[in-house]
Amino acid sequence: MAEETLTIRDNRTGTEVEIPVSDGTIHATDLRQLGLMSYDPAFLNTASTRSGITYIDGDAGILRYRGYPIEQLAEHATLLETAWLLFEGELPTRDQLETWEEEVRLHTYVHTNVMQFLDGFRHDAHPMGMLLGAVAALSTFYPDAKEIGDVESRRLQRVRLIAKFPTIAAWVFRHSRGLPYVFPRNDLDYIGNFVNMTFEIGGVHEPNPVLQRALEILLVLHADHEQNASTNAVRGVGSTQVDPFSAVSAGIAALYGPLHGGANEQVLRMLDEIGDVKNVPAFIEGVKNHERLLMGFGHRIYKNYDPRAKLIKRVADDVFAQTGIDPKLEIALELERIALEDDYFVSRKLYPNVDFYSGIIYRAMGYPTDYFTVLFALGRLPGWLAQWEEMLSDSEQKIARPRQIYTGYDERDFVPIAGR
Ligand code: CMC
Repeated sequence: MAEETLTIRDNRTGTEVEIPVSDGTIHATDLRQLGLMSYDPAFLNTASTRSGITYIDGDAGILRYRGYPIEQLAEHATLLETAWLLFEGELPTRDQLETWEEEVRLHTYVHTNVMQFLDGFRHDAHPMGMLLGAVAALSTFYPDAKEIGDVESRRLQRVRLIAKFPTIAAWVFRHSRGLPYVFPRNDLDYIGNFVNMTFEIGGVHEPNPVLQRALEILLVLHADHEQNASTNAVRGVGSTQVDPFSAVSAGIAALYGPLHGGANEQVLRMLDEIGDVKNVPAFIEGVKNHERLLMGFGHRIYKNYDPRAKLIKRVADDVFAQTGIDPKLEIALELERIALEDDYFVSRKLYPNVDFYSGIIYRAMGYPTDYFTVLFALGRLPGWLAQWEEMLSDSEQKIARPRQIYTGYDERDFVPIAGR
């Protein structure tokens, strides 16, 4: 028996069992000795995996990737450097980084058939719907991606996804605007290439290094967030041993939801609806009466200021110095000021999350509201892939298949239609 144990007495029968405690956790399967299951809808208190990728202390507002504080990565790291860190566990050496950047650059093109099925979407199709369809469809171009037991094949699919995702994301943007697709350019870096494919007109795009670095910081801040809803979707779907394009498209679908990545879009819609600072108090009253949510506030894990939101506020200063202040920022600041003083939010430990300010910044950069979550997906992709790899290498993982408490009818006889 392990040194730390838990004794459970079943008061129905008097049976006592002693079960091991490790890492502050008991194994739900140990409850089987008592004929019990654990019930935890929405995983409020259930660890689904061991993971060495991202550490969060929600009460202290701490976020680290592979041990490195998010504040330091946001200041110093590029997105590709962060992706390498998430995949490999260590920061790349200069040589490793250059080789990695070059490898990604060589895979940025997608089959031109992808243009044809993007063209099949309606002009007003939501960018996230297009993105998730296009990424899922990539699996049909790479049947070798099914070889998920082959480490080298998995690595190649990771490179393909990291390299092609910006191309598809940019083409989704172009489709929405009825603009011709722009091909990747090998002389540009990862972010520069994405921005160019998005905004180039007539072969010309004048890059703004401050805005590009700001975008990169936002993407680094989004790169992983341990077992969030979309990562859980990638792991759950990936646990069936499907190819990573299909698993990642499940992550995109989960991210699309307004309670997850879709919140950044909803924040802007909410600010549009509030319209003016003078309407903020009435809006807050509506939230407190449970008529609606204050989008961009609250988090399952953070019961303190989301450290990413703090960093994003700093990025906002850099961006607005370039673009001029967005009047929506004034409304957001007033919402935050009132909420942080109000007992409804204080007692529930509701603070601004990563989505509260990111949308205003994306808008200042020229992205339309319904495109914000695509940017979140671009940032989160390295995390999904690192978590997918970790899941496949973990001998404790199997197909994810929860149990249920059945609440339906007991057996009953079929009633012929004439008798119903
Ligand atoms: N506005 C108003 N009340 C809220 C909010 C909010 N944004 N978030 C939580 N509450 C209230 C909730 O009504 C509940 O109150 P009561 O105890 O009176 O019923 C209490 O706070 C606890 O909330 P919960 O829904 O049990 O918390 P949860 O951990 O299940 O939900 C959340 C977390 C993020 C889904 C939720 O806070 C929310 O819906 N926030 C708005 C959407 C949002 O901003 N999502 C982005 C999350 S961060 C980035 C990401 O993951 O994509």
